[in-house]
Amino acid sequence: MACKRGALIVLEGVDKAGKTTQCQKLVQALRRKGHPAEMMRFPDRTTTIGKMISAYLENQSELSGQTVHLLFSANRWELVPLIKKKLEQGTTLVVDRYAFSGVAFTSAKPGFSLHWCKQPDVGLPKPDLVLFLQLSPAEAALRGHFGMERYEKSSFQCAVQQQFKHLMEDETVNWKVIDASMNVEDVHKDITEHSLNAINIAQNLPLGELWQ
Ligand code: TMP
Repeated sequence: MACKRGALIVLEGVDKAGKTTQCQKLVQALRRKGHPAEMMRFPDRTTTIGKMISAYLENQSELSGQTVHLLFSANRWELVPLIKKKLEQGTTLVVDRYAFSGVAFTSAKPGFSLHWCKQPDVGLPKPDLVLFLQLSPAEAALRGHFGMERYEKSSFQCAVQQQFKHLMEDETVNWKVIDASMNVEDVHKDITEHSLNAINIAQNLPLGELWQ
């Protein structure tokens, strides 16, 4: 390998946990420490598939649960070549949501098993670290009202949190639970420490494949 690969770092958690703020702060902190880093987010609403997802989330279109689940997954797969290229070039990617959100949100709907939901994302680049920003639904509610998008309802978010718990039982994934009720700077410090550690370990390991 010409240069050491970057790490794939994912932030997950329920809405209002502060994922986006923390992703941005992490990218800045890594760059300051001399690690090339970039942020990505899923869904990526800029692609053709992403625009279909966005219309669904904004209640401008109706799709079956199966259809939108596969679109979310396809939206990740269409970016795999770019993800691999950046990692190979030595750039660490900080990703706001990934396949875990995909599985947690769809499997929180009636009639969808965790097993079925995982299948389309089997084989995606495996994150070197998944940071789960833990915040109780009660604390999330204190941070203000949800927006108008399809999944932004407390009852549904509770069901999603349950599904995340099941996913975190899987020890093949490097989960770290972060207490997102702490202040922004303390959360950031925790996240940065775990990330620097993951970057160090990842540079000597090949990129894995998720859930296989
Ligand atoms: P966002 O608010 O982070 O842009 O995410 C949009 C919504 O899409 C959010 O409610 C979580 C949901 N979601 C899924 O249902 N499946 C997925 O695969 C992803 C990435 C997000």
